[in-house]
Amino acid sequence: MWLFISVHVLCTLFSSILATNPGFRLRITEDGLNYANQVAVDLVTKKVKTTKLPDQNGEGKNVKYSLSNLDIRNFQPPTSSITLASESDLQWKATNLALEIDGKFHYKYKKGFIKFSGGGSVNVKFSDISFSVGVNLGVDGSGKPTIKAGKCSCDSGPVKVKFRGGLSWIYNLFSGKVGKIIAGQFQSKMCGIIQNLIDKNAQESLSTIKVEVQLGEFLTLDYRLLAAPTVTSEYIEADLKGEIFWKSDKSEAPFAPPAMATITDNKKMVYITLSEYIFNTMTYQAHQHNILVFNLTSQNIKAKNDALNTTCTDICIGKLIPQIGKSFPNSKVELHMKSSKPPVTSITDGHLGVAAEGDIDLYARKPDKSLHYLFRIAGAGSIAVKLTMNETVIHGSVEDMKIKLNVSKSSIGPVNEKALQFLVDSAIKTTITPMLNDLGTKGFPMPSTDNLKLNQFDFKLLQNTMLIETNLKYIPEPTKTKSTVLKFVPRDRWKSINNV
Ligand SMILES: *[C@@H]1O[C@H](CO)[C@@H](O)[C@H](O)[C@H]1NC(C)=O
Ligand SMILES: *[C@@H]1O[C@H](CO)[C@@H](O)[C@H](O)[C@H]1NC(C)=O
Ligand SMILES: *[C@@H]1O[C@H](CO)[C@@H](O)[C@H](O)[C@H]1NC(C)=O
Ligand SMILES: *[C@@H]1O[C@H](CO)[C@@H](O)[C@H](O)[C@H]1NC(C)=O
Repeated sequence: MWLFISVHVLCTLFSSILATNPGFRLRITEDGLNYANQVAVDLVTKKVKTTKLPDQNGEGKNVKYSLSNLDIRNFQPPTSSITLASESDLQWKATNLALEIDGKFHYKYKKGFIKFSGGGSVNVKFSDISFSVGVNLGVDGSGKPTIKAGKCSCDSGPVKVKFRGGLSWIYNLFSGKVGKIIAGQFQSKMCGIIQNLIDKNAQESLSTIKVEVQLGEFLTLDYRLLAAPTVTSEYIEADLKGEIFWKSDKSEAPFAPPAMATITDNKKMVYITLSEYIFNTMTYQAHQHNILVFNLTSQNIKAKNDALNTTCTDICIGKLIPQIGKSFPNSKVELHMKSSKPPVTSITDGHLGVAAEGDIDLYARKPDKSLHYLFRIAGAGSIAVKLTMNETVIHGSVEDMKIKLNVSKSSIGPVNEKALQFLVDSAIKTTITPMLNDLGTKGFPMPSTDNLKLNQFDFKLLQNTMLIETNLKYIPEPTKTKSTVLKFVPRDRWKSINNV
């Protein structure tokens, strides 16, 4: 017995070590599915009106018939629902669907030696169609979602057939019989048609989903599914990778995503949880590939009194560090900054902070444009970020910034603390803060599609997690037609830092 228990404990332990936390999680509640159902019905209704039906052939006792040039004239959308189910993942139920079809018919009758044939135009009215079909969701080898129809049952009410042209009055005498034949045929095929709609059409549109989205020039966000979506009685949930990679070198970040905070209610349609892992893999890759670099020069300082002058009447770096003023008069000091470690984003209840470490190499730019190395300062900064959100963007602004500097290897002798404080306040903070705020105002775009917009959203910072809970608003005909599933623009940020 104890052996069994210890094996069990070991397995549990291993599986919890091996289980990969997602970086990105998407939960859709019953309300969300209800909404999806409304949208689906709207789309199907529109699509049906332009759909060409395939020719139908059938056979009854002694008679063969064909229907061609079929056109849907009237379509009464069903009362339908998509619900979370237990035997399959979802259950799609529809009732009260009605359909009127115009077309041409042709028949051949043969009984013993009696043979005749004819044709004309026909109108078929289907009423009270209902169906119920299971829908199963899964994942393929590349992390894309899959969809497959499960058990199906269907039913239809009376079918009315009306013939026109030729000897139509004769055919109309038998239309009740013909109606029954067509109803039987239709019913036997309907589940096939619906299952095909799911297995082919829905699967095809799912297979076009991109599981990687490019972020600017160098980075990509990987949001492939880690496993098949899970279904509970209250929601359906998908765990996605949520890692940012360097585009031309897809090696994994050397750290794993932390467990995300759990969502405690299901009142909204959609819950999007983003792990701090997304931000940390982004800054890891950016650091690793040397794009967290920035040269701060006097051009970045828009103040009149140029703190980076080596010669001045009032106050400047050349006065606070006299060695510089003496050796490089009438010059400008430049701060070449570079991350020395990947910046780390930490999210706790209500707070988002970024800790960064970097080296600042000081140079003097002489009037003849030549550049002279002065010394290196190690800097450690922490930034508290205040986040707000509107319909399309998460905005960030710097709430507080702390920077600690530490002069190592100075080639010009000891540098006093007052000089460092001056550098931090007048050059670094006053330049970096507005830049970060400017980026923050541009914001981090929310996932959106052209048709679906966030509505009545809320935004929370929880342990390791950014939670967006929202309802959706469906826009049937968006004015602008762009086709990305998710939109992000971080590369521009690096660019705007570097190009200032
Ligand atoms: C900073 O200046 C140095 C020296 O002029 C140059 O080599 C480097 O590319 C610059 N870095 C950036 C990010 O502009
Ligand atoms: C800083 O130097 C520039 C020339 O490089 C000069 O025009 C400006 O007046 C100086 N600023 C101060 C405060 O001395
Ligand atoms: C959201 O904020 C962005 C950036 O400040 C702005 O461009 C956009 O118009 C805002 N959207 C709405 C709906 O207010
Ligand atoms: C400053 O840097 C030196 C050398 O890297 C290090 O030994 C020292 O602990 C640092 N001081 C502070 C206050 O961080």
